[in-house]
Amino acid sequence: MRARTSRFHIPLALLAGVGFFTTACEQPAPDVPPAAEDPAPAETAMDPLERGGYLMRIGGCNDCHTPGSLLGMPDHTRAYNGGDVGFFMPGMGYVYPPNLTPDPETGLGNWTEDQIVTALRTGVRPDGRTLVPIMPWPGLSALTDEDAYAMAAYMKSLPPVANQVPAITPAGQPAPGPYMTVQFPEGMAPPGPPAP
Ligand code: HEC
Repeated sequence: MRARTSRFHIPLALLAGVGFFTTACEQPAPDVPPAAEDPAPAETAMDPLERGGYLMRIGGCNDCHTPGSLLGMPDHTRAYNGGDVGFFMPGMGYVYPPNLTPDPETGLGNWTEDQIVTALRTGVRPDGRTLVPIMPWPGLSALTDEDAYAMAAYMKSLPPVANQVPAITPAGQPAPGPYMTVQFPEGMAPPGPPAP
């Protein structure tokens, strides 16, 4: 019985609302300025440095290159200063995510933006060595010029901080610090150590 009563009331309430709306529309229109044009798409509206920082954040670069991230406690006051947890790959050894700030001794200070873009898109460092694929350069090969250079410019704009991460250490030697192990699937041979 209750349901029947409320079925009756809903249309009445709706009609009352429509009536109010019609009356409101009959009032003289207030002097409203025309709506602004749609804003430009984000990629063209953003300043390149801002976009570089944005791409680095959503690209997960912090995950490995900021201390504490792989421990669930990223230290944002040392963003991109170099990871404190490395990766161990059987056959290849221990590798640590380097300092991406423009410190000349321990970071990217002596790299040109072109060299950073080449490393991001092809994995090739200025010394000719190819970065291990733990660094996700194969996916970054799809970066447009505009985005890759925005990221390089952002890295060069960071405050330079001296922080040397451990050098690549061959398997069989003591681990130079905390690390995560990449376990190869059974029957799959790990690649050899990275060429010097
Ligand atoms: C899963 C971990 C991981 C993520 C995520 C990651 N990196 Fe790396 N990155 C590494 C490691 C490890 C190395 C060192 C590899 C080597 O030396 O072979 C490296 C190397 C680099 C280098 C070369 C620096 C040098 O001194 O050789 C650059 C530049 C770089 N990463 C930028 C980035 C950027 C930009 C992003 C985000 C889009 C990113 N990385 C995301 C792990 C990571």
